[in-house]
Amino acid sequence: MSIEIVPLTQADIPSAVDCVQKAFADDPYFRWVFDDPSKFNIQRNAASLADHLRYGISCGCPISVAKVTRAANETKSDNEIRLPAGTVVGVAWWYSPQAPSLPQTWSVWAQDWLLSFRQLMNNIRFFGRGGLNVHRYWIWKEVQKTAHDAIWQDPRGYYFCNVVGVSSQARGMGVGKKLMQTVMEKADRENMPCYLESSKGYPNVGIYERMGFELVKEIECVDEGDLYCMTRNPKTKE
Ligand SMILES: CC(C)(COP(=O)(O)OP(=O)(O)OC[C@H]1O[C@@H](n2cnc3c(N)ncnc32)[C@H](O)[C@@H]1OP(=O)(O)O)[C@@H](O)C(=O)NCCC(=O)NCCS
Repeated sequence: MSIEIVPLTQADIPSAVDCVQKAFADDPYFRWVFDDPSKFNIQRNAASLADHLRYGISCGCPISVAKVTRAANETKSDNEIRLPAGTVVGVAWWYSPQAPSLPQTWSVWAQDWLLSFRQLMNNIRFFGRGGLNVHRYWIWKEVQKTAHDAIWQDPRGYYFCNVVGVSSQARGMGVGKKLMQTVMEKADRENMPCYLESSKGYPNVGIYERMGFELVKEIECVDEGDLYCMTRNPKTKE
């Protein structure tokens, strides 16, 4: 399977949403915040994810996708993954550094409101939040904020990896690393630190360590599960 790493476009959003939904189906945070599978509405969740990705594009966030480039009719060996060209098999969404001392820009402020409005429309269209446990969602947000306040000591801010996910068929093939490198290399050139958090300790902490991250905080969350917070210092060329 040949893969290209390219910036996310509007046209990629449906395939990117499908990739993220599948990549996070067994994620501890996802299972905790959508705690009743009988109430989970996958279409509502897809609409919300699509709106978040639109928000990310509009805010100028660095979002990359890994896309299959092989033509659909190309000869394939039996053990090769059979996916049509253009299928998204990995997504990495980062936020650019935001110095805490600087105010939020007007355009991001406007996009925040637009996202809230779109979510309201989704609530109406799908008759609710599709099984999201809102109480747990806010507990998690609070835990995240506490972590950021404690860890984000660099006054210039951090490149923050908000989402990274690779389809199960494409894992362990270097796709996640290539996706992450798009921003990690930029961070290195700019001498900026990176930050990410994962609710899955194994194998993710080890995977991110191989990318140059180190575990700086492990937070025990209220009901179950932990939040693994990792930072990466910029690498300077020898
Ligand atoms: C975490 C994830 C994004 C990593 O992507 P990936 O494409 O599988 O990772 P890569 O193949 O690029 O591997 C990166 C490094 O980790 C190592 N690695 C990969 N899988 C590993 C595993 N299961 N155990 C130990 N090391 C592993 C690789 O050998 C590689 O190291 P190297 O560069 O020194 O050779 C992917 O596994 C995933 O989507 N998981 C499910 C969703 C998720 O948990 N997302 C993250 C939320 S924070």
